[in-house]
Amino acid sequence: MLFKTCVVVILLSDFSTAKDWCYFGCEKSLPHWGKYYPKCNGHKQSPINIDTQKVVKNQELASVDLINFSLPHTMKMLKNNGHTVECELKAGAVGVQGGGLKHKYTVLQFHFHWGGKDLVNHPGSEHSLNGHRSPLEMHIVSRRSDLNDSTAAKLQDGFAVLGFFIESNEKDMSQVWESFTDYLQKIPRKGDKVRIMEPFSMHQLLKGVDLSKYYRYNGSLTTPPCDEAVVWTIFKDPIRISKDQLLRFPTQISFDNVYRPQQPLNNRVVYSSTTLNRRSHRNN
Ligand SMILES: *[C@@H]1O[C@H](CO)[C@@H](O)[C@H](O)[C@H]1NC(C)=O
Ligand SMILES: *[C@@H]1O[C@H](CO)[C@@H](O)[C@H](O)[C@H]1NC(C)=O
Ligand SMILES: *[C@@H]1O[C@H](CO)[C@@H](O)[C@H](O)[C@H]1NC(C)=O
Repeated sequence: MLFKTCVVVILLSDFSTAKDWCYFGCEKSLPHWGKYYPKCNGHKQSPINIDTQKVVKNQELASVDLINFSLPHTMKMLKNNGHTVECELKAGAVGVQGGGLKHKYTVLQFHFHWGGKDLVNHPGSEHSLNGHRSPLEMHIVSRRSDLNDSTAAKLQDGFAVLGFFIESNEKDMSQVWESFTDYLQKIPRKGDKVRIMEPFSMHQLLKGVDLSKYYRYNGSLTTPPCDEAVVWTIFKDPIRISKDQLLRFPTQISFDNVYRPQQPLNNRVVYSSTTLNRRSHRNN
């Protein structure tokens, strides 16, 4: 009994450091992040708006190599952590390299940011393109394969996050997203988790996105402690799922409006990949 008690205490204290923040309705809510987590006041914070008239085309930014994204059974568990729903991947199963990244990265998890119950009028993407925000945004989080969380957090390129806008499409319904978002009803509350049984691959979730068209900038984690340790890759094309599937996020999960407001660009440059025409605009 005594032994068990000790283990619980150690685990709790280990996770308490940056876990008691929130977006709204607690002491460490959004307006106060900077007070409790000083890095959130930095000058290279995320998310940002991307002004496509100001991005600089960079010849080094070819397609990102998504390693094992076609492999089935790489998703392990979907968890509600009180801030988002996060899908944990099997350790070391999926990776990211190339596309101007100077290191190899291992994908750890992906998670979502969403807005209010009516996602159309209250979109919840964190990034935006020319001021346009999408209903949802998905972040695939990877860490330099040669580092652990604490060493990666100290370097500007410790983490690489792939960001995808998610928009609604009433025409052809994605069966994979239907099955994937079906899991949300099983994890409405903080601490709930469910094992993923289907053989989904990462690529199945990214259908319809031209992976050679993206924006690149140096930024931060969008949640406390806001370490400026992220190389961001934001894809131009949105993933399209049905409105019903979109609405499962704010309605089946017990919280909504889980996104950070946009941060000043300051003196940073946003680059675009080689195949992106600087003057092209989203026409949807
Ligand atoms: C890709 O999958 C293969 C087969 O499971 C594995 O051996 C390899 O380590 C994986 N590569 C990466 C970069 O995760
Ligand atoms: C991370 O790696 C560093 C350097 O290799 C090591 O000193 C540290 O103990 C590691 N931290 C964890 C939490 O594993
Ligand atoms: C990010 O920062 C690193 C180190 O300061 C720099 O070498 C790199 O060019 C920057 N990348 C972008 C996309 O601004």
